[in-house]
Parts: sequence; structure tokens; C-alpha cells
Amino acid sequence: MKVLGALVPLALAGYTLAVIPISSIRKSTLSIVPHKFIVEVDTTADIPGKRSTDAPHAHILRSLTERGVSYKVGHEYNSPGVFVGATITLENANDVKQLEQTAGIQAIRPVVLLPRAQPVSSHVLTGYGDSAAPPDSESTHKMTGVDKLHAQGYLGAGVKIGIIDTGIDYTHPALGGGFGPGHKVVGGWDFVGDAYTGTNTPVPDSDPLDQCAGHGTHVAGIIGADPGNEWNISGVAYKAAISAYRVFGCPEEGTVSDDIIIAALLRGHAEKQDILTLSLGGSAGWVEGSSAVVASRIAATGTIVTIAAGNDGAHGSWYSSSPGNGIDVISVASVDNTVIAIQNLTLHGADRDSLPYFRLQPAPFPDPLPLYATSNDSTVASDACDPLPDSTPDLSKYVTLVRRGSCAFTQKLGNIAAKGGNAVLIYNNVPGWASISTGIYTNASLIQDTDGAYLVSLVASGANVTIAFPQTGGSYDFPDPHGGLVSDYSSYGPSNDMYFKPAVAAPGGNILSTWPVPLGKYAVLSGTSMATPFVAGSAALVLNAKGKGVTSLSARTLFETTAQPVAADTTDAALLHTATQQGAGLINVYTAIHTETIVSPGELILNDTAHYQSSHSFTVHNTGKKVKQYTLTHVPAGTAQTLQTGTIFASLGPVPATSDHATVQLTTTKLTLQPGQSHVVGVHITPPKGGDPKVFPVHSGFITITSPTETTHVSYLGLKGSLKDAQVIDNTATLFPVAPPFILNATGDVQDAPTNYTFVGDDVPSWLVRLAFGTPLLRFDLVKPDIKFTPTLGHRALEERTPVVDRSWYSFPHGKANTFGQVSIVGPLFEFDYLPRDAEDGYTNTPFTPQFANGTNVPSGNYRVLVRALKPTGDITQEKDFESWLSPIVGFWPNATAAH
Ligand SMILES: *[C@@H]1O[C@H](CO)[C@@H](O)[C@H](O)[C@H]1NC(C)=O
Ligand SMILES: *[C@@H]1O[C@H](CO)[C@@H](O)[C@H](O)[C@H]1NC(C)=O
Ligand SMILES: *[C@@H]1O[C@H](CO)[C@@H](O)[C@H](O)[C@H]1NC(C)=O
Ligand SMILES: *[C@@H]1O[C@H](CO)[C@@H](O)[C@H](O)[C@H]1NC(C)=O
Ligand SMILES: *[C@@H]1O[C@H](CO)[C@@H](O)[C@H](O)[C@H]1NC(C)=O
Ligand SMILES: *[C@@H]1O[C@H](CO)[C@@H](O)[C@H](O)[C@H]1NC(C)=O
Ligand SMILES: *[C@@H]1O[C@H](CO)[C@@H](O)[C@H](O)[C@H]1NC(C)=O
Ligand SMILES: *[C@@H]1O[C@H](CO)[C@@H](O)[C@H](O)[C@H]1NC(C)=O
Repeated sequence: MKVLGALVPLALAGYTLAVIPISSIRKSTLSIVPHKFIVEVDTTADIPGKRSTDAPHAHILRSLTERGVSYKVGHEYNSPGVFVGATITLENANDVKQLEQTAGIQAIRPVVLLPRAQPVSSHVLTGYGDSAAPPDSESTHKMTGVDKLHAQGYLGAGVKIGIIDTGIDYTHPALGGGFGPGHKVVGGWDFVGDAYTGTNTPVPDSDPLDQCAGHGTHVAGIIGADPGNEWNISGVAYKAAISAYRVFGCPEEGTVSDDIIIAALLRGHAEKQDILTLSLGGSAGWVEGSSAVVASRIAATGTIVTIAAGNDGAHGSWYSSSPGNGIDVISVASVDNTVIAIQNLTLHGADRDSLPYFRLQPAPFPDPLPLYATSNDSTVASDACDPLPDSTPDLSKYVTLVRRGSCAFTQKLGNIAAKGGNAVLIYNNVPGWASISTGIYTNASLIQDTDGAYLVSLVASGANVTIAFPQTGGSYDFPDPHGGLVSDYSSYGPSNDMYFKPAVAAPGGNILSTWPVPLGKYAVLSGTSMATPFVAGSAALVLNAKGKGVTSLSARTLFETTAQPVAADTTDAALLHTATQQGAGLINVYTAIHTETIVSPGELILNDTAHYQSSHSFTVHNTGKKVKQYTLTHVPAGTAQTLQTGTIFASLGPVPATSDHATVQLTTTKLTLQPGQSHVVGVHITPPKGGDPKVFPVHSGFITITSPTETTHVSYLGLKGSLKDAQVIDNTATLFPVAPPFILNATGDVQDAPTNYTFVGDDVPSWLVRLAFGTPLLRFDLVKPDIKFTPTLGHRALEERTPVVDRSWYSFPHGKANTFGQVSIVGPLFEFDYLPRDAEDGYTNTPFTPQFANGTNVPSGNYRVLVRALKPTGDITQEKDFESWLSPIVGFWPNATAAH
């Protein structure tokens, strides 16, 4: 799992990572809670000992107790038809086998930690100083037709929306100012308490108030902020009844384990929410995983479920997020707002009077100050990364100008503060901008690269320039050149099993909404977290207009078929942007509600070359009162080059695209439909002729159905290349000087000779594996040292040896019968299902214990470790579908200290 929402660097093209020395290898990236499992009960099975009066999982607990297994029961789930089971923590990991052998268990899944929903960037407003020039608070509504729906009286009245997030500050005047029946926030539950971090014990209560985190309050405002507030914003469905299910505590780095997400989903379902929305997740790659499965099942019952696609766009393709991956949920991508509410500063002694700086509130320096540049070279690479020279004046009397790049903002600002500097302008080192995080140095603001170069040239020419930050009248609706385009941070799909993820996009970049009263009342945040409630609110308007019979799937299809495909950039020659990042396009809620042409399905999934589904059909239905004549055309999007040429690694964002495109044949390109008539159109799609299957080009595009008054479309997506050809295990010396996989010995060196381990203190081997692509199954077995087996992946030369100190815990997985191959093993050590690929700087480094997966001690002796990863779409019973690696000889001599 990768933490969602790290600040995204602006310049990622050509971004390369330094090789990490073996000595700095640290901890595992696995986010699995040890010894804790979500056990799903088969309610239909006829189990001996099952009593009709029992809770559905009671017989399982009884059976465990009878066999002397010590366990604790956490959440108990009882939503027949959706999910029945319990969270069980085993006191002794050795008892996994006992759990597995219990009759009536349908599935055992590990408990996964999901990161707290983090905005990509944030700006808190502490007040409002400028009623003369408010930001265009309606911009996101105009982008999507919500303004017109409000004018028609669609406001979400009578619709129930459950928000699963950090809670809501319902004391906020724009959020109803109260809690409970009769208020905007009608109900909810706090599953965790303020102090919850994701790993400590949750302290639930009935009050989901958020006055410490803010994220859920911002989400709530996007759906429900009442108009008439000082920023003139309104929620998409501000008459809807909101329930707050709080699953994150106050700590900013907090996570939540997915057993709690499941509890919140099921409670929202039980409390009959019409819509459930989750602005959270972590990279997962696959549609499996407990919370994704439960979210999908709830969506399949009809409840509309909207979930963020993730903020991992910088990590590139094949990085879709869960639970947004759930098959039937609506996974939401982000599009940037068309305006950014920022401030202008005023210049004296220059030929320009003003220029914009990226800050919602004026910087607190009303009086003119002279300008000081830390360098007179506006192309300097590492400006102010080192302490400033002795010749630097007392910067407290200046506005200091510094260039972005090469070290952290806080490092530059610390060096400037050491010389007294407080008012700081950081100029960008690439075109474009976004809000930045400057830690304790809250008086630093970002300006554009060209404006920075202009100011530097003024200083260099010796001009007597001063700058002032007007406290009123400086608000500026900066027309964002990237507005309306897909946000760079929005995660790329498709899922590793070729599902169409994300489904649609909505405004998520630079969104002004409510914030907890004690923290400033209003803030501008960016993220798919902001786009997701926008779709939830939009779905409420659809329910208003069309009645509550609209299901999650039909709402998704409506949004997809009426969305506006977005271009890759603003140039005339721009290709349409790949559906792997925008889904079917930017939603248009007005069209979704008022279209008389209903098209279904919204997605045609072509899959990979080996499983290519060329033939599809869709239905066009004229629900209007007049005859309609349609023209059907194919509009391709850019083909995403999802792997970096000549490597086994995914392309980083922005993922390059080519104009190669599929060929689409339709059974008809002209269609006349009488009122009420529908027609099934056949489609035959063949992959692009051009393009190298080795870079896994993903083609996508749209079949548009246009009448003189309406345009709708069906989206398609497919891969030219076979997923089974993806290399899963990284065996290149790209991140480390030594090619993984490898085993680190007691001193933290890569083990290259037979080595005995006592498993006492540091004398424990650990394994390090990096995944270049997701795998449905990663398995570690102990084998005899003289095994006759040729692994698919060989050794590489060893280059560096330095110690490792930190060792991480690991979790026992549930074992699975060894069905693949005739490979003779001594016993399985562990196995992981449905792992996502690692990010470009990711890896897993985890110690062995001297036990098999079932908890039995490994008999003392010499072994090798056989690592096997199933290729995507591979057959679990076929050894040839696995990549494998065989370790050097590892001696397991747990008690035999004398063996050294
Ligand atoms: C702000 O809201 C007020 C009250 O609803 C309205 O009169 C005014 O036109 C709005 N201003 C803008 C810029 O939208
Ligand atoms: C802010 O500055 C920009 C660029 O100098 C200018 O175009 C714009 O009109 C200014 N806006 C205000 C409100 O001063
Ligand atoms: C620079 O400008 C400021 C304010 O406009 C003025 O007070 C000061 O005398 C000027 N200094 C020089 C050297 O021109
Ligand atoms: C694509 O094909 C693979 C292999 O048959 C299958 O497992 C997967 O579910 C398919 N994907 C979709 C979205 O149907
Ligand atoms: C670890 O491996 C390195 C490299 O082979 C070796 O020099 C070192 O002695 C080993 N340490 C232990 C404790 O075995
Ligand atoms: C545990 O697994 C090992 C290795 O597969 C096997 O030899 C042993 O019999 C198992 N123990 C139990 C109690 O099933
Ligand atoms: C190590 O010693 C402990 C305690 O004597 C014993 O329970 C365990 O079975 C031994 N392990 C091995 C692998 O011999
Ligand atoms: C490991 O210990 C065993 C048993 O004492 C011994 O036979 C073997 O030589 C040792 N191997 C190494 C590499 O030290």
C-alpha cells in the first residue's frame, strides 16, 4: 500500500531516482495487520453444530474454542446478501491453520491498513477580507451543469448521503450548525475516536464531530454547504441529509484498517443511505481486497457508492486504488478547477503593477518592502539549499525571492529564516503551479516561473523595486491554464485485471469548501478526495430527478455516457486524454439528468491481447417525444505507453501517449429512432496496428452517438500486449546496487554464500523483493538445498555491503494448498494474494521467522528459499506461469547456537 496524497512534485517527466545504498534499506511496505483476519462466513453452508438461533458466525467461534484456539473477536458483520462474518485476531499466529480448517468459512482475508485520505494540497482561510472580489465560487458547478440544475430546483432534497471520512464539523454555520434529526448532518457514528492512528485500539462513540482533521468537513461542504456564506459557495446537493461515519482519528499520518471501513460501509447500508461516498484508499491494482469487495457488493444492491480513484498519478499506470477498484463502484478521477482563488501583490518601481501569488489569503505584509534575491540567476538549480553567505543583509526588512528546486522548501526557508527572512516568494522552476507545503514557514508563497524570472531581472538590473501585499482588494480569480484538464495527481488505471478504472472525472483540483471552525472555517484543497463527493452530490441530483430506483450501475452508466471527454492538453493538436486517467470524461450532471438518449452499457472492456473481446454491443434508446436522427462516430483517445521503453517498469506520470488507435467498426453509423424506440448497435474493435506490445500500450476512446441536440458516448479500453508477459519481480539493479530479490544477513549485507542463522537478536535473515508489476500470488517456500530446479530469474553480481539495523514485523498469511507444479518443497513460509506493484522507490524488506506458514517450527537444517510470483492472468496450477527465484543456502538453526 502506498500512502495516498503525498505532495506531488510538479516536474515529473524525466524524474529519475538515485540508487539506494543497501545500508539505507529500511522497512517493509506491507500494510497488513499481523494475526488479524476478516473471516467471511458461508451462510448457506450446512454446518454440523450450527444452531438456528445462532449469530451466523457463532459456530465458527465455538469450533475454534473447542480446539483450544485463543482469539479475540473484533467487528461482527451481519448483512446477509452483502457480508457476514467477523474480524478475528489470533493470539497465536500458529493457529492460522486451525482457522482455515474451520467448516463454514467462505474466505479469510488479511486486514489491510488504508492511509488517511490526504488532500494533495491545502490552503486554510482564516477570514475573509475582500467582499468586493470573491472567487468564482460557482466555477465547478458551471463546469458540470450543476448551476443549471440548482436553478431548476434540484438540490438533493430527500436524499440520504453517508460520508465515510474524518467526521464532520457540523457546528459550522454552512453545515447546519448542529447534529441529529432536523439538522443537515442528521446522523452518523464515530468508529474510532480522536486518538486513533490505525494501529491502536479504536474508541468508538456516537458523535462523529471533526474539529481536528478537516478532510471530512471539506468533503461535506462540497456536497452540502448551504449558500449565503461569506465565500458564496454552495454544495452540489445542499438539501441532502448527511450522515458522518468517522473512520480516521486526528493524527495527520493516521491510517484506518479496512475492517473498520467494512463496518462503516455496512452501517451506512443498514441505515439505508441512498449514496455512500469514500474519499480514501491506497494503491492496490486489483479488484479483490476486502473493502473493495464489500463496497462492490453494496453497490450491486443498488446503493450508489462513489470512491476516490487515488492521488498517485505521479506513479503512472497500473496503480489504481482500492476500495475504488471495487467492480460495481464509481471510481472518481479529478479534473482541475478552471479558476484558482489567489491573491495579487503590488509592485512599485517596476513596469508591471501587480502579479499573482498562490495564496488564498493575503500574506501579512501590508507595507512596501524592498526585494532581495538569493541569486541573480533565474536558472540556478539549488538556490538557498546551503546556508546563505555572510554578506547577506538582515532579510527581515525584505521580501526574499528564491527559486524552487533541488532541496525541500523548508530547507531553503530555514536558511532564509537564519538571516531574519520572513516574507518569502518562491518562484517555480517549471511552468504551472499548485499550492505548496512550507511547514512552519507559513509566510512563504509560490509565484510562477516567468514572474520569478521577471523579478530577478529587476533586482539584477539594480532597479529600486518594492513589493506590498494588499490586505484587501487583492483577490484574483486566476484563470488556471490547466483548468478543465485531468489533474496530474489523479491515479492511472486500468486495474491489473483490466477493469475500467477510474470510471469518470469531476472537479477536484483547487476546490474551495468548508473547514472545521477552530481550524479556519474555509480552505482550498486538491485531490480525488474532492472530486468524489462532487459525484456523490451529483448522484443525489440524479435521484431527485429520476427517483430512487436509479442504481449505482445505472448512475455510473448515465454519468459515463454523458460525460465530456477531456483533452490531454490545451494545444490545438492535443489528443483526447487516455481513459486510463480520465475514465469516460468530466461528468456533466445536467446532461446526465436531461438527456433523452439513454445509452448502455457505458464501458466496453476489451481486455489484453490474449483475452481480447473484439465484439460488443450497446443499446441506444430514444426516450424523447420526437424522432431523433443519430450519427455514430469513433473518436479515439491517445494510446498510453504504460511501460517505460526498454524496461520492465511502469511509465511514471504524466504517462506518454501516441496517436496510435484502435479500429472500430459499427453495424450502423446512422440511426433514426422513433420516440420510445431503441436499437442495439454492434461494435467490432481491433487493436491499433502500430505500437510496441512490449511497452503495454493501452488504447482507449469513445464511440459518440450524436443527434442535432445531444451527444452521448460509450467508452472502450484495451491492451495491445499480453499481461502474462509482464515481468512481475524486479531483478534489475535499478533501485539498489544489487539486483533483487535478495536475502539480507545479520549484518545487513546481501547474503551471497551459505549462511547459518540462529534467529536470536539480529541473526535473522530478511527477504527483499520489489514488484515491477502486480501479482495475484506471491509465495515463499523452503526447499532442499540441492533441489533440481531452474529459477526463471538469476543472480546478479554483488557490489555493496553495508549494515542494516531496522527489521520489520510481518504477518502470517493464510496458506493455500500447493496446487502448482510438481516442485518438491519442504514447506510454505508465506504467501500474499493480489499484491500491487511497488512504486518507483518502493520495496518490501521483511524478516523470516523459523516457522512455516502454519506456525509449525522449521526443523533445523539447510534450505533454500524459493520465491514464486504468479504472472497476471496466469494459471495458478501451472509452474510455467510463475516467475521464480532461488536463494543461496540458508541454514535454519534456531536453537543451535553451537552450529556457528
Ligand atoms: C454571492 O451571494 C449573494 C447572495 O446569495 C449574491 O447576491 C451574489 O450575487 C453572490 N455573488 C457572486 C459573485 O456570486
Ligand atoms: C492580478 O494580476 C494579474 C496579472 O498581473 C492581472 O491580470 C489581474 O487583472 C490582477 N487582478 C486583480 C484583481 O488585481
Ligand atoms: C527606493 O524607493 C523607495 C520607495 O519608493 C524610496 O523611499 C527610496 O528612497 C528609493 N531608494 C533609492 C535608492 O532610490
Ligand atoms: C480479462 O481477462 C482476464 C483473463 O481471462 C480475466 O481474469 C479478467 O477478469 C478480465 N477482465 C475483465 C475486466 O473482464
Ligand atoms: C553477511 O554477508 C557479507 C557478504 O557476504 C559477509 O561479508 C558478512 O560476513 C556476512 N555477515 C554475517 C553475520 O554472516
Ligand atoms: C505445517 O507445515 C509443514 C510444512 O508443510 C508440515 O510439515 C507440517 O506437518 C505442518 N504442521 C501441521 C500441524 O499441519
Ligand atoms: C527450540 O527450543 C524450544 C524450547 O526448547 C523448542 O520448543 C523448539 O521446538 C526448538 N526449535 C527447534 C526448531 O528445534
Ligand atoms: C551450518 O550449521 C551446520 C550444522 O551445525 C553445519 O553443518 C554447516 O556447516 C553450517 N554452515 C555454515 C555455512 O556455517
